Amino acid sequence: MDLLKVFALLPIVTIWLGARALPNAPDAYTPKGEICPTTRPSVRNGSSISTNETAWLERRRNVTVDAMIEFLGRLDLGSLNASLYIEENAANASALPNIGIAASGGGYRALMNGAGGLQAFDSRTVNSSLPGHLGGILQSATYLSGLSGGSWLVGSIYINNFTDVTSLRDSGTVWLFQDSIFVGPKDSTTFAVRTSDYYSQMQDAVAGKTDAGYNTSITDYWGRALAYQLLNATQGGVDYTWSSIALSPNFQSGGMPMPIVVADGRAPGQIIIPANTTVFEFNPWELGTFNPPLQAMVPLEFLGSNFSTGTLPTGQQCVRGFDNAGFVMGTSSSLFNQAFLQVNNTQAPQIVKNSVSQILSSLGAANLDIAVYEPNPFYLYNNQSEYANSSVLTLVDGGEDLQNIPLEPLLQPQRKVDIILALDSSADTSTRWPNGTAMVATYQRSLSSLGQQSGLAFPPVPDQNTFINLGLNNRPTFFGCNSSNASGSVPLVVYIPNAPYSYQSNVSTFDLQYNTTERDAIIENGYDVATLGNATADSKWPTCLGCAILSRSLERTNTAVPESCRACFQQYCWNGTTNSTDPGPYYPTYKLSQLHGSTSGARRSILFTSRLELEVVEAAVCYALICSLLW
Ligand SMILES: *[C@@H]1O[C@H](CO)[C@@H](O)[C@H](O)[C@H]1NC(C)=O
Ligand SMILES: *[C@@H]1O[C@H](CO)[C@@H](O)[C@H](O)[C@H]1NC(C)=O
Ligand SMILES: *[C@@H]1O[C@H](CO)[C@@H](O)[C@H](O)[C@H]1NC(C)=O
Ligand SMILES: *[C@@H]1O[C@H](CO)[C@@H](O)[C@H](O)[C@H]1NC(C)=O
Ligand SMILES: *[C@@H]1O[C@H](CO)[C@@H](O)[C@H](O)[C@H]1NC(C)=O
Ligand SMILES: *[C@@H]1O[C@H](CO)[C@@H](O)[C@H](O)[C@H]1NC(C)=O
Ligand SMILES: *[C@@H]1O[C@H](CO)[C@@H](O)[C@H](O)[C@H]1NC(C)=O
Ligand SMILES: *[C@@H]1O[C@H](CO)[C@@H](O)[C@H](O)[C@H]1NC(C)=O
Ligand SMILES: *[C@@H]1O[C@H](CO)[C@@H](O)[C@H](O)[C@H]1NC(C)=O
Ligand SMILES: *[C@@H]1O[C@H](CO)[C@@H](O)[C@H](O)[C@H]1NC(C)=O
Ligand SMILES: *[C@@H]1O[C@H](CO)[C@@H](O)[C@H](O)[C@H]1NC(C)=O
Ligand SMILES: *[C@@H]1O[C@H](CO)[C@@H](O)[C@H](O)[C@H]1NC(C)=O
Repeated sequence: MDLLKVFALLPIVTIWLGARALPNAPDAYTPKGEICPTTRPSVRNGSSISTNETAWLERRRNVTVDAMIEFLGRLDLGSLNASLYIEENAANASALPNIGIAASGGGYRALMNGAGGLQAFDSRTVNSSLPGHLGGILQSATYLSGLSGGSWLVGSIYINNFTDVTSLRDSGTVWLFQDSIFVGPKDSTTFAVRTSDYYSQMQDAVAGKTDAGYNTSITDYWGRALAYQLLNATQGGVDYTWSSIALSPNFQSGGMPMPIVVADGRAPGQIIIPANTTVFEFNPWELGTFNPPLQAMVPLEFLGSNFSTGTLPTGQQCVRGFDNAGFVMGTSSSLFNQAFLQVNNTQAPQIVKNSVSQILSSLGAANLDIAVYEPNPFYLYNNQSEYANSSVLTLVDGGEDLQNIPLEPLLQPQRKVDIILALDSSADTSTRWPNGTAMVATYQRSLSSLGQQSGLAFPPVPDQNTFINLGLNNRPTFFGCNSSNASGSVPLVVYIPNAPYSYQSNVSTFDLQYNTTERDAIIENGYDVATLGNATADSKWPTCLGCAILSRSLERTNTAVPESCRACFQQYCWNGTTNSTDPGPYYPTYKLSQLHGSTSGARRSILFTSRLELEVVEAAVCYALICSLLW
């Protein structure tokens, strides 16, 4: 058989292999040029969503109907029979609620707290359809976005066949956070490797990519290391691609929400990421940005191909395998690259220490956090964007512009999301709890000229002091309840901040190791954060969340808002009040006071004056003392 025929058969073979994201990279971690399909891939204008997404949306919106009937039907919405309402409008999916869920960054804290939230929203979780629980929201959702630590959560779920959080937690093969990335998965029941083998596998993988002529950065090692913890496959799923999600039949038929991972662009010569930076997304089909002036999308599968002026010149092969799933998650969380500064204190073999050190010294401090995408797929795509003038595209951690919740993809006007559940695990206060900084950042960006050009509409939110003084960072709050205040369509945002219910879940972003007890306690606390302790903190919470989910849809169909929802909005909507006085140090008390003797204070909470200072000090202390012993 000639090569062309082999290639033509590839999609069939890979689909046949199994109903999950696929190990379909041509040569493990090394990107490889192949014969192009008859329609050569090209860069497209990012002023609209893709035709792939549009076609997929039709299927997904239909599939969510039954899940909504199930979930909303369980709630007591007074005069409104919600399941009947959904049924009556089912023929017109665009009348129905269009739900997005966003999982913020914040390292393992964000992974675990976000996991508790997704577990609560997932109808597959045992007992999640009991009164006071919220199972079925995930099945009703259209989009699920993740950033940095939140991207680990999203990636781990999707690359493992949209498995559920409970299965990942209890697998014994992945999520073994007691084995830090510096020792590798030595306790995995299926994929245990000796630490030295783990390092040589990583080294071989990255060296393969380098030897094939691709520039690598410390993110390649970081992404490899992460993947060993997150992907249920040998060698950290070294041949799983992000684009293979789009090939899984379950995804294609609309059986799960669309996953989106966010990274920030670092323009050539830039060091600090400005608030108006270009925000990139990885979705199952594409990498790119809706933001002008770049405003461009490239097919993810063919990343690594030598695009120029948006096309792949004849003679250039179609490269596949660049979009390694671990590398995508590593890119979104590249702030953590700096952990590798400690490589000399680890058990890594000398050859790894040397190559990591060599990369670190060649990068210089300003570039430690970059992921290198070279060749730049957007090279010479247009002449208005500085990104298009460089042969390299550098991407960094999605939270570096302070938009630590991946809201932006969900604000793309054509996606028509009307309700966003925003899980915020940020460490904003000196005691590492959220204070609304991510919401403020996205709101301000929506007002900026870039936000206006990008059509980003976001409801008004108050300053961070108000968030704390009014307790908006300690319980769920609805923003944008009154859509008539807004010009154009604005989603209703349900802000769900990390708070202590049953555990002080404000662990440090730079804590890279957790025993099973603590991991499970933080996930369980996350479940309580989303459900308000299974509605023990407010028995009306499930109803009120249902009201928020239905709100925009009721407006579209001119349906009267039931009285029970009015009461909910009175209680949960931010009404415009502010109190901007300095709140002083923030020490939340346990929300479920029956648990744990202590009522306040935080584990390992030391007071620093700013987040940056805190994190720098913590990292330094960790590296110098504790971590070198642990690792
Ligand atoms: C993936 O999940 C689906 C739905 O749960 C299941 O039918 C399928 O067999 C799974 N595929 C693999 C390869 O595990
Ligand atoms: C992309 O489309 C938008 C809207 O039609 C247009 O303004 C913009 O110039 C296009 N960009 C490029 C590079 O062609
Ligand atoms: C995306 O859409 C294009 C054009 O319709 C199609 O050729 C391609 O196969 C689709 N990609 C996937 C992964 O389904
Ligand atoms: C979605 O459901 C509607 C109404 O039941 C049906 O007409 C339409 O064909 C469905 N679309 C898809 C893509 O399944
Ligand atoms: C991990 O993969 C094994 C097969 O290799 C499968 O039996 C198991 O269910 C998977 N676990 C998760 C959590 O995906
Ligand atoms: C971001 O802001 C800077 C300074 O205000 C401005 O020079 C630059 O053009 C802006 N970039 C974008 C992409 O809007
Ligand atoms: C590790 O040690 C080597 C040799 O002592 C040194 O050259 C290198 O800079 C160190 N690497 C880091 C990341 O500190
Ligand atoms: C809120 O968080 C930001 C950083 O995210 C921090 O700079 C600011 O001091 C915090 N404010 C309060 C009142 O906690
Ligand atoms: C797990 O970690 C927590 C927090 O560091 C610690 O208090 C606890 O003793 C540890 N438990 C075990 C079984 O090691
Ligand atoms: C809520 O339910 C979850 C799962 O059933 C459980 O783990 C958690 O402890 C419960 N929380 C409270 C406060 O009852
Ligand atoms: C707005 O909310 C605050 C508490 O957050 C409350 O004190 C005030 O009375 C409310 N105002 C109105 C008009 O409801
Ligand atoms: C504003 O918040 C402070 C706490 O930082 C509180 O002491 C004060 O009473 C609040 N002011 C009003 C008007 O509620």
